[in-house]
Formats: sequence, C-alpha cells, structure tokens
Amino acid sequence: FSDFLTDTYHRQHDYLRISVTERCNLRCLYCMPEEGIELSPSKKLLTTAEIYYLSALFVNQGVNKIRLTGGEPTVRKDIVPLMQQIGSLRRNGLKELALTTNGISLHRKLDQMVEAGLTGVNISLDTLDPFQFQLLTRRQGFEAVMKSINRVQEMNKLGANVKLKINCVMMRGLNDHQLLPFVEMTRDQDVEVRFIEYMPFGGNKWSENKMLPYAEMLDMIREKYPTVARMRDAKNDTSKTWHVPGFKGRVGFITSMTHNFCGSCNRLRITSDGNLKVCLHGEDEVSLRDLLRSSPDGEPMDEEAFEAVRQVEMDRRKQSPLRFDGEEGWISKERQLLETI
Ligand code: GTP
Ligand code: 5AD
Ligand code: SF4
Repeated sequence: FSDFLTDTYHRQHDYLRISVTERCNLRCLYCMPEEGIELSPSKKLLTTAEIYYLSALFVNQGVNKIRLTGGEPTVRKDIVPLMQQIGSLRRNGLKELALTTNGISLHRKLDQMVEAGLTGVNISLDTLDPFQFQLLTRRQGFEAVMKSINRVQEMNKLGANVKLKINCVMMRGLNDHQLLPFVEMTRDQDVEVRFIEYMPFGGNKWSENKMLPYAEMLDMIREKYPTVARMRDAKNDTSKTWHVPGFKGRVGFITSMTHNFCGSCNRLRITSDGNLKVCLHGEDEVSLRDLLRSSPDGEPMDEEAFEAVRQVEMDRRKQSPLRFDGEEGWISKERQLLETI
C-alpha cells in the first residue's frame, strides 16, 4: 500500500469520494437554500477525462473503493460514461464503485450504471410520507425515489449485486415519527436503513435539540422491537449496524455527533472543482486540477501528483480534526463543535 496514502495516525486512505457536481435537483432544508447555491463556472470543474485520470492515479496507489457524490451526481450529463471509465479500473484493483444519490433520476440510469460496474448505492430519503417529502426537500419526487429503490431491488433479484442503503437524517420534531416506519421497512426488504445524526453544516439551521442522539433512537426502536441486536461492523464502517431477528434488512446509525469514528477514517475527498481534501471538516485543500492543467502536455507526471497528495497527508498531520482526550480517546471535530455551542 502506498506511503502517500498513509498518514501519521497510520490510517490508510483506500476510499476515495469524488464529488462530480455541485448542482442538485432537490433543496433539502438541511442542505441548500431555496434559491440554490452559487455555482462555479463550468471550466473550473473537473472534466470526465480529469476525473478518470485522478481515479486511475489513486487506484494504482491502493485505493480500492470510489464513491461518486455531489450535489446530486446523476444530474451530471455524462455520469454514465464517467462510471464506465472508472468501472474499467477494476482491472487495476478497484473493488467497489458506489454512488450516493437522492434517487430522483437514478431509476432511469441504473441499468447502464450496473453494467458499468456499480456495486453500491446509498439513497437519501428522510421520510416515507409523500407530503412530508415535499416539505423537507421543497420539491416533488417521492414516487421517483421509491421507483429507484424498487428498481435496485428488482435488479438484484435478476442477479445484479448492488448493496442498497438508505440514508435518513433524523431531526427531532420533524421526522422522528418516521423512525419506526423505516425500521418496519427492513422486515421484508433487503435494505440497510441508516439513521444519521443531524450535523451542523454550512449555515444550516442546526440546533442541538433538533439532533436526535444514537442512544435515544435506539431506545425508541427497542420499545417496539425489544429483540433488536447489534451486528459486527467492518473495520472502517461509519455506521453501527443492528438487526431485528427475522427481518430481511438491517438498520444502522451514523453517529457523527455522539460517537466519533475519525480514528478509523479511511477517506480522501476530491471536490467537484478538483481539490483534494483531508476531511469533511478540514479547511485545507490542494488543487489537483491546477496541477493537471499546468502541465504543458496535459499529462502531468505521476510524481507531481504524488507530491500534492503527500502535501495533503502532511497537512492532515498538522490540522487533523482529531483531538486526543485521555479518558475518551479521539474527539472528533463535531464533538468539539458541540462543546463550544
Ligand atoms: P458507505 O460506503 O456505505 O460506508 O458510505 P458512507 O457512509 O461513507 O457515505 P454516504 O455518502 O452515504 O454518507 C452518509 C453519511 O456519512 C453522511 O451524511 C455523513 O454524515 C457521513 N459521512 C460520510 N463521510 C464522512 C466523513 O468523512 N466524516 C464524517 N464525520 N462523516 C461522514
Ligand atoms: N447532517 C447529517 N447528514 C447530512 N446529509 C446532508 N446534510 C446533512 C447534515 N447536516 C446527508 C444526506 C446524504 C448524505 C450524503 O449526507 O442526507 O444522505
Ligand atoms: Fe443537498 Fe442531497 Fe438534498 Fe440535494 S438531495 S439538497 S445535495 S441533501
């Protein structure tokens, strides 16, 4: 495994998240204002060739999982050709090619994506109530999301092998009444529903009392499903997985606010304008795009790119969001934030 992708906490960054667009076709209350966000001029964004070049570079160094995110990745016009190109990196050691999407238009592109090598899809859905969907996302589209969820399951029955997860951000007083209906969904469906603790982000109207902690969600679930039991999680999983015996699916919890998982973080990120980032919450970024574009023949030497990666890993050492607390172990940036609010 490449030294370039290992930091001083001995974390090996073998999972790369690439944001392929800033745009989105929903306006979720906790994410975007009604008017959307200011978009970068398109020439600042990575082209498909550039995204492929960087993907290959990282895979050749040991990255074995790539997740495409956004904004909403399916609004990128060439998302399918892009996935076809990245999918070809299976030859070089890529094991997983995943997508995080709101599911609005996934059903239209899913077949081609599966053919390109899609191995996992995380669909964001915060409510099973169509009226509330419109309230939370400020748009129509509940049926389209359900269609995408059904289509993934249908394709799996036909022999595809796409891991399906649903991401559900839980907010007290808003959608917490949906907790049990989502658990109920795992009775007959082979799906993992992950409840995410609501995080403060880019000026959203976060407040501590809207955040529903893991322990509280679990209590609510235990009351109706007393047999719910913890499952073993994979080494770098961000979620803690549980299962009601006899149910086909599972439920998970992403506990960013109350139990950090930074100590085992294995992620690197590339933003849609080509910056390599050390952490969701880190501020320092290094432009891989400028590096690519500054080389006279458009074919930068791998060494130059390695140097940039090394710089980021060094920065990670300097400005890691972790703080060590003797009793509690590593304290995440989110926890530190919580303490100051
Ligand atoms: P898997 O590959 O299924 O493990 O996906 P994932 O959980 O890494 O990715 P996804 O895009 O589905 O993100 C789900 C949630 O995980 C997001 O809402 C974030 O809250 C959280 N998350 C993802 N990456 C990070 C990270 O690097 N740090 C923190 N603190 N949270 C993250
Ligand atoms: N807190 C927690 N999760 C969030 N997401 C977006 N904003 C927040 C937030 N403030 C989730 C989305 C999507 C995932 C990539 O991140 O719901 O599922
Ligand atoms: Fe933000 Fe995702 Fe909602 Fe779009 S679907 S507004 S990117 S949370």
